[in-house]
Amino acid sequence: MGILRGKRIVVGVTGGIAAYKVADLVSKLTQAGALVDVVLTERARAFITPLTFSALSQRPVWSDLWEPTGETAARHIELAHADLLYIAPATADILARLAHGFADDLLCAIALATTAPLLIAPAMETHMYQHPATQENLATLARRGAVILPPASGRLASGELGMGRLPETSILLGAARQVLGRSGDLAGRSVVVTAGGTHEAIDPVRFIGNRSSGRQGFALAETARDRGARVTLIAGATELATPFGIDRVDALSAAAMAEAVFTACLHADVLVMSAAVADFTPLSVADQKIKKRETRGERDAALTLHLGKTVDILSTLQERASAYSRLVKVGFAAETREVISYAQEKALRKGLAFVVANDVTAPQSGFGVTTNQVWFCYPDGRLVELPLLEKDAVADHIWTEVVAILRARDAAS
Ligand code: CTP
Repeated sequence: MGILRGKRIVVGVTGGIAAYKVADLVSKLTQAGALVDVVLTERARAFITPLTFSALSQRPVWSDLWEPTGETAARHIELAHADLLYIAPATADILARLAHGFADDLLCAIALATTAPLLIAPAMETHMYQHPATQENLATLARRGAVILPPASGRLASGELGMGRLPETSILLGAARQVLGRSGDLAGRSVVVTAGGTHEAIDPVRFIGNRSSGRQGFALAETARDRGARVTLIAGATELATPFGIDRVDALSAAAMAEAVFTACLHADVLVMSAAVADFTPLSVADQKIKKRETRGERDAALTLHLGKTVDILSTLQERASAYSRLVKVGFAAETREVISYAQEKALRKGLAFVVANDVTAPQSGFGVTTNQVWFCYPDGRLVELPLLEKDAVADHIWTEVVAILRARDAAS
């Protein structure tokens, strides 16, 4: 979440029951290094106290347009010097007031005074949300450049089910990251990331899989979004939820992943293959569950599976180079020995810009943990060693290298 570090974010909270969820958002933004100024409307104070927010943001909480700050005479002008104005939850009332340019309270005055991007997360009862007055106000705000985060569906304060819930914190956070990063160094680039392991079916209930969690790939997708890229995430087997602002394609087997990658890469600038794709798959899949008593093996207790090689996705892209001539390809190599020599050989054989190699037997590196220690191995033998880092920091290093490669390519053409 490096994109949030040092950013000045004004979070405007208005009077809706979802105000309590924004306490978690403020906490997460602050933990990620953002300087968060919370502005509560008068009605928001009926739902949640300033103390909750000041304890989480470790900064004063603002409500009054007139009380001097000590730094400048006009608090709304001072707070307007932000990187992002995030209004959550936004009631129907604040949408109307923003759409009509009201300036009679601190939050509305900041919204008029700021040149920062405006991100709005509406939350209200379904009929209020769908009312033409609310929809027209949202359309007006969107036309002026505000980013509207659509509400989620589910149980509402009235007890009814419908659209109008404030999205979960991970979505609120993802939206802030995307808006802050939209003119980053990957803006205008389209990237494809694969993540997770594959499942190769044996019968309707069994498969051959591997230990990949998908964390490194999901971190790559999120950090690319945070730097302005359009991201397609091709996900194999993983428990992880789809991050905000990312197109996800599920592809559980090696064959499905190959097809998804071939299609998505036709119009992409970059492919990062972090998925742990199976190298072998059963030659035939039993239509019914294999029964223990009916199996015949060399010994009574043995079951013999016949496996064939899967399509090597990166090598196939290399063979079809004319269709993918502008694609920068980055591979991964999870090794248990001779890490660097194997990785360098893969970079050369598969036509890659570089390979991100790690030793999965090392503690705190590789499968199932949040950290990774990797080397960048280039086809010409160059080698860059990174220290043990969180997976999103590893991802940021990978994108920095990719940006340098894209810029060098653009300059040469
Ligand atoms: N890969 C791929 N298609 C496959 C298998 C792997 O594109 N069918 C990609 C992986 O996503 C990774 C890179 O190739 O980015 C290296 O994967 P790895 O399994 O380490 O390489 P292999 O060529 O299978 O080599 P080996 O089995 O000798 O380790």
